Amino acid sequence: MYTKKLSKKMNKQLNNELYSAYLYLSMSSYAASIGLKGAANWFMVQYQEEMVHAMKFFNYINSRGEHTELAAIAAPPTEFVNLLDMFQQTLAHEQFITSSIYELTDLALAEKDHATHIFLQWFVTEQIEEEENDRDLIGKLKLIGDNGQGLLLLDNELATRVFVPPPTAAA
Ligand code: FEO
Repeated sequence: MYTKKLSKKMNKQLNNELYSAYLYLSMSSYAASIGLKGAANWFMVQYQEEMVHAMKFFNYINSRGEHTELAAIAAPPTEFVNLLDMFQQTLAHEQFITSSIYELTDLALAEKDHATHIFLQWFVTEQIEEEENDRDLIGKLKLIGDNGQGLLLLDNELATRVFVPPPTAAA
C-alpha cells in the first residue's frame, strides 16, 4: 500500500526532479554566456523536461490521497569549465537520479504498492535514454577536443532540440 514511508520518498524524488530542473536552467544560462546558444537551448529543453518529471510526482502524490511536502531546492553550481564539463556533470547527476529511482522502485515493491511500482516504470525507461544522450554527447565532445569548428557544428546540432509537451498537464 501507499505508506507514509513511501510517500516521503516520493516527495524526496519530487525535490530531486526540481533540483534537476534548476541545475539544467543554470547550465543553460552559463552556455548562453559563453556564446553556445545551441547548448543553451539543449539545457533549456532539459529544464522543461525535468519540470514535467517533477509534475508527474506532484500529481501522483496527490492522486494517492497524500499531499506534497515542498522542501527547499539546493542552489546548483553556476560556473563550469566548458561544455564537456557540463555534460559530464549532467551524466553524473542522471546516474544519481537513476539510483534514486531504483531505490524508490525497490521500496514500492517492499511495501507491495503495485500502482507506484507501475508509475515508476516510466522513469526507469526514461533514465536509459537520459544517460545514453549524455554519454553520446560526451563522446562527441572528447573527439572534438579543442577544435572550435567542431564545437560550433555540435552547437548547431544542439540548437535543433525541441521540447515536446506531454499530452495533458498531468502526464
Ligand atoms: Fe528527471 Fe533527468 O531525470
